[in-house]
Parts: sequence; structure tokens; C-alpha cells
Amino acid sequence: MQGVDPAWLPDGAFRPIGTRRTLIRGAGPLVDTVHGEVAEACRRFGGRVVRDAGADAGADGTAYDLVLELTGPEGLGSEGFTCRRENGVTHVTAFGQTGLLYGLFHVVRLGERAFTQDRQKQAHRPAVALRMLDHWDNVAVHPVMGQVERGYAGGSLFWADGRARGELLGRVRAYGRLLAACGINAVAVNNVNVHAVEARLLTDRIGEVAAIADALRPYGIRVHLSVTFAAPMVLGGLPTADPLDEGVRDWWAQTTSRVYEAIPDFGGYVVKADSEGQPGPFAYGRSHADGANMLAAALTASDSGSAAGPGGTVHWRAFVYDHRQDWRDRTTDRARAAYDHFVPLDGQFAPNAVLQVKHGPMDFQVREPISPLIGAMPGTRLAVEVQATQEYTGQQRHVCWLGPMWSEALRFRADGESTVGELARGGLVAVSNVGDDPFWTGHPLAQANLYTFGRLAWQPDANPYGLLDEWIRLTYTPTRSEESARLEAGVYAVLSHSWRTYEKYTAPLGVGWMVQPGHHYGPSVDGYEYSPWGTYHFADRDGIGVDRSVATGTGFAGQYAKPWAEVYESPETCPDELLLFFHHMSYEHMLHSGKTVIQHIYDTHFEGVEEVEAALGVWASLVDLVDPARHARVTERFEEQLRSAREWRDQVNSYFFRKSGVADAHGRRIY
Ligand code: GCU
Repeated sequence: MQGVDPAWLPDGAFRPIGTRRTLIRGAGPLVDTVHGEVAEACRRFGGRVVRDAGADAGADGTAYDLVLELTGPEGLGSEGFTCRRENGVTHVTAFGQTGLLYGLFHVVRLGERAFTQDRQKQAHRPAVALRMLDHWDNVAVHPVMGQVERGYAGGSLFWADGRARGELLGRVRAYGRLLAACGINAVAVNNVNVHAVEARLLTDRIGEVAAIADALRPYGIRVHLSVTFAAPMVLGGLPTADPLDEGVRDWWAQTTSRVYEAIPDFGGYVVKADSEGQPGPFAYGRSHADGANMLAAALTASDSGSAAGPGGTVHWRAFVYDHRQDWRDRTTDRARAAYDHFVPLDGQFAPNAVLQVKHGPMDFQVREPISPLIGAMPGTRLAVEVQATQEYTGQQRHVCWLGPMWSEALRFRADGESTVGELARGGLVAVSNVGDDPFWTGHPLAQANLYTFGRLAWQPDANPYGLLDEWIRLTYTPTRSEESARLEAGVYAVLSHSWRTYEKYTAPLGVGWMVQPGHHYGPSVDGYEYSPWGTYHFADRDGIGVDRSVATGTGFAGQYAKPWAEVYESPETCPDELLLFFHHMSYEHMLHSGKTVIQHIYDTHFEGVEEVEAALGVWASLVDLVDPARHARVTERFEEQLRSAREWRDQVNSYFFRKSGVADAHGRRIY
């Protein structure tokens, strides 16, 4: 699309297909999409595509370089495909249309290699059935949060001036294309904090959601909607939203059936209830299982008999905690909250109710342990939520590629045996980092987060660095030249270590926060120290950190399955990077790394800034190889990152020098 960055689908990525001869066999709307993609590539590069829905014509596959065929093995499900190359023909087969589309994008990723190397038949299918992006988009511009809550890429893709962007649905379609090319199959279109205008998307404004669904459907993406638990009152005029009240249940059932009339393949609801001021079942003395199951029942009833495939699901968020805590109260620990609220309900949720859990127990900090709830609810379908929008990781002004963080989380053996990726039977979800910005994500390099999330959701045990390579090749060097290796190495150097760099110059050793309250950008060591939000570091003249041990602290460490409960209980076994999350330690405590806590703080903060300076230098050296607009945008953001990193370094180092009185062993400048 004109005026919009092609991201990881530049025209050049289609050259290997577009210069060749392709046969497509099969019928249906997504096969039409596949055909449209190949036809467009051929128009551009001079190849040929033949569409044959019949069984016999074109049987002589050898006349083609690529055969995309809808006759694959049923066992791979509707999204799987096989790919092989023999006798000069690359052959993709799928049982379902979506699988064929994913097979096409697999060939795009392989590039020339798809046509030059023989390959044995390989089966591909997603490990996780639901791979979703949650948009925190508002229809109207919210007075505090703006249009996209925690959005750093401009306004909403879906709404402008209080109305659906009808004229821009071409862009939504282009978005769907990018998402399908990295494996995402679901989008929740609006903010989990559902305000008055947005509540009506469920009823009289459902047509706007249907229009988005129409734009995304050709790319195999279903839409979901965030709804307010109080909808029967605010929209239906009922006196209550009690989930066990018959009138309330009827209202949801009828409303949901009208949603299915508008959107036959509607994915379901996302609900933030009893969380940060949102309404929920607690007001009626009901449990969260009661609340979720009521919506699950409405979604089941409405969907039965429709030809849309798998039924609707309610994604019920587990982000429930006391956000009006008294900072003087040392017995309440926000980290414990999700487990304390939800583990007693294990086994009580309906099959189509998914409990959506943030990956960490707090809130998307640069370093957190895994939420202990994830290993503790075997009788519940869990979805795990990560945050692609960089609320606490530099707000898309800083380069911070989150692939290694997500990969560590997904490979963590939460119950001692299964990985988080395996335990996420209800799906993997990322809060979207996309807006109406021409580069989609504000910072052009933040596209790598979106791409990596999709690919990891497809295969949670994939090597994230391999996915980064893949993204770089597609985005920057789809057609190779003499300079490709230099460009690839440069972009890789800028991104690959950037999460650890960000961690170094911000809050140390897992303690988190220390951000400016409200907007969460930039340092403020005591910004949340005396606030009601439950996010404290407890630094004093002797030490810092939160004692969450069972023996002497809040007991949070005891929520973990074996072996983690023991590992985290003792500072001896707790990994350095999480030490201050679990323990209050003296500044002179010796880490496993051989440094004291205070020296670690000083060293990492100086190193972090040096690493940003080095990365900026690498980026500058690529000026002759990167499109000028993109190069300039990244440079401008890098300058802000460097300024901000220095501010972080100096505030954090000065704060701890003043608290502890311990000098830097290397005598560097601290204020
Ligand atoms: C964070 C974020 C909020 C968001 C909330 C959520 O607290 O700052 O803007 O609403 O997470 O995930 O619900």
C-alpha cells in the first residue's frame, strides 16, 4: 500500500515466486487470497500463475516451479501445511485454506532457497491454536490515555475522529496481511478498559467491528471484542449485572446472538473485570468463574449451529489486584494477587472460558519472574499475555527487542515439567504496538517485536535470534546485494542485545518500576514508592529489594511449584537478575557474578549507556544502506534514547550513592 511501510513484506520478498510459474489448486476465499498474492507478484516480476480448482487439469506438475495445493493431510489441522521440493518442483499442501496461506508465506520466507535446494517433506503446524494481538484502542480520544492506551505509534488503525476509518480499511487489510505472514490469527480490536463510547461497539456500533472483521478475514484473522462487565446496565438499562441473574444472562445471550448475526466467525470477548476500577462480579458477591462462565455460555449458545468453525471464547483477564493499597501496609503483596484470586477457582471455568494471565506477577517490567499462577492451574485453559507495546521498555523511543525475554518466559518450566509455551493451551496474546504511524510501530525497529511475537506464538521454542535474522532479511535485504551482509550484521548488532542494554540502565536486579508515575517514561526512583499501586523497592541506607520469601517475607516465593519455590526462597539460589524481586539485600551483598549489589548497579548503568552509544554508532554507519526516511526516524529516536539512558544512569547511580554512601570502585562520575 502506498504511504505505508511494507515492513517484512516488501515487494522484493516476492521476487522468487513472482519470477516463476505457480499452480494453485483448491477453492475458497483464502485460496483466492493466495492466488491474489501470487498473481500480484507475477504481475510485478513477469512470472505466471494458473488457478485450477478442478482435479485433473494441470496434473503435469513438472511444468510448474511451485504448486500450492489444498489436499494436505487432515492431521495437520486447518492451519498446518507441508512443504517439500523434488524434481524441480516446490510443493506445498494444506488441508485447510488458512494452512495454504501460511504455506505461501513460508515460501516467501525461504526466498530463493525455496527453489534452489531439494528438501524432504516437512510438516508445519502452530503449537498454539490462538495467536492474538490485543489492541488497547479507544474510539474516542481519552482525556488522559489518548486514543490508544499505552500506544506509541500514533492514533488507532481502526478509528479516527470518533468514527470507524471506513476509507482506510485498505490499511487494515494490509495489516492483516502482515499479521498472517508472521502467523497471528486473532485481533481484539479495542481497549480492555472499556469506556462509555466503546461499550457500544457491542451493540449499536457492532457494524464497525464487522467492517474490521471483513477486512481481516481474507488473511485468516478473527476479531474479538473487549466488553464491559456492566454492559447489561450501561447498554441494556437493567438494574444489575449480576452474572447469576436470569435477566442478565438473557441479555448477554441475546446481545451475543446479534453479534454473531453481524460477524458469523466472531472470536469472542475479552474482559477486564474487578481490575483497576473496572466493574466485575465481586460487586454481587460472585466469583470470577461465575462471571466468565456466564459469558462463555452466551458465546456457546450463540455460536452453535453456525458454520464458522470453532466457537466463541471468553478471554477473562487475571490482572486482579488491589490498586488502592496503603504503602505502609507490608502484608499486602501485589505479586501474590493473581494466584490468590484465581488458583482456588481452578477447574471451575467452562471449556470456552480462557483465563488470560500476564507473563509476570506484576506488570510487564523489563525483568520479572514468571507468574506462579501459570504452573498452578492444570484444570483451566490459560492464555499468556505479553506486551509488545513498550510501556515499561522505552515506549518505542528506545530500541528494545523483546524476543529473548519472551523466549525465556515461554521456555520456563513453570510447573517443574511443562514449559509456559506448552501450558498456554488457551493461546498467546500480545498487547499490540501498532498504530496509524507510517512505520506501523512508531520506531521502525519495533516492528521486530511484532514479527517475533507472531513467530514465537506459532513455535514457542523457536530460537529468537533465528527469528530476528529472518525479520532482518525479509525487511532489509529481500534481494541480496554485495552490501547485504554488512547491513544484516549492523541491524542485528543494534537489536540483538537491546533488551539487556535497556535492563542495564533502568531498574536493577528485577526490582522494577522506578519510572515516572502515570505515563511511565523515564526515571523516577521513588516515583511509586509511596503510591497506592503496590509497587515498592524499599531502598534504605542499608539495602534494597522486596522480601517475598516464605520464611521472613510476604510468602510469594511459596506460590511456585517445585523446584522454583526453593530456588527463589533463598538468596543463595535465587538468580542474580531476580534477586531484588524476591529479597531485600544489603548493598554489600556479593552476587553470584562476584560483584556487590551496589557495584553491580554502578557498572550496569555505565555499561548500559556505553552500549547505547555503540549501537547508535553502528546505526549511523548504515546510512548509505537504509532508506533515508527510515534511517532518519531511527536516528532521531536513538538520540532521545541516549539522552534518556544518561538520565537513568545518573539518577539511579546518584540515588544509590546517596543512600548507601558507598563509592564506585572505579571512581567514575556520580552526582
Ligand atoms: C497496565 C497499564 C494500563 C492497562 C493495564 C492492563 O497497568 O498501565 O494502562 O490498562 O496494565 O493491563 O489492564
